[in-house]
Amino acid sequence: MRIGVIGAGRMGAILARHLAKRGHHVSIANSRGPESLTALAAEIGATPVSVGDAAKAGEIVIIAIPTKAVADLPRTLFAEVPSSVVVIDIGNYHPELRDGRIDAIDRGMLDSQWVAQQIGRPVTKAFNNILAKSLLENGVPRGTKGRIALSVFGDSLDAKTAVLRLVDDLGFDPVDGGDLDDSWRQQPGTPAYCQDLEAAALRRALAEADRSRIAEYRAEREARIRRDIAAQTPSGLARQ
Ligand SMILES: NC(=O)c1ccc[n+]([C@@H]2O[C@H](COP(=O)([O-])OP(=O)(O)OC[C@H]3O[C@@H](n4cnc5c(N)ncnc54)[C@H](OP(=O)(O)O)[C@@H]3O)[C@@H](O)[C@H]2O)c1
Repeated sequence: MRIGVIGAGRMGAILARHLAKRGHHVSIANSRGPESLTALAAEIGATPVSVGDAAKAGEIVIIAIPTKAVADLPRTLFAEVPSSVVVIDIGNYHPELRDGRIDAIDRGMLDSQWVAQQIGRPVTKAFNNILAKSLLENGVPRGTKGRIALSVFGDSLDAKTAVLRLVDDLGFDPVDGGDLDDSWRQQPGTPAYCQDLEAAALRRALAEADRSRIAEYRAEREARIRRDIAAQTPSGLARQ
């Protein structure tokens, strides 16, 4: 498939690397322009492009940038992109650690609903609930015992089917979590968040989550990351 990746940090580069290795044609962009990505792109087998070209690059476009940066993307980014193109949001809102306060999310809008509103396009939520290190190292072929499962949320069945296929392709068991309105079940700090669970355990953890605790889950997760950073442990340094 032709896949555009917007964001070339930890997550964007890992996704691009794995996708290119699996034979997809990957275009990758960051905020500083394609020239800054020449070496990385050559190393991982992707094409360095501008953000605008990444949005137009493929059948799938992955948004892998900090949540606050989504507001800086050009308003017309997807204006000429066919509606059949699947847009994946992998972001997590971290108000205290990185993003600053985003009022709409603080008032109850879900992370990915806010992203969809900003870019003027429906999104499918995936890959936000696995740490970069695990995404890099833990994908295994279908049928392998202990294979980690990743859930996907979205309102378009066609888009979700494409993303579920991509999850499997990358070495993880795909789990359809439901509509985008249920994607809070894998936002930061929920029982299913970044736990590297197998499919049955992941479904149980998603079901266990309590919608009234979204803000509390997030605050607990941020507090934990802050403690881990202070202690210099790996989960703190790989800040999701
Ligand atoms: N790290 C994890 O373990 C993890 C796991 C799951 C989900 N996530 C989520 O995935 C997203 C990306 O995380 P990350 O860890 O990969 O971040 P990161 O390492 O900080 O990389 C961020 C990337 O976004 C690019 N960027 C920033 N603003 C941009 C803009 N306006 N236009 C285009 N590109 C822009 C940056 O490009 P420049 O360097 O050129 O500015 C950089 O390549 C975040 O929402 C994060 O919460 C992270």
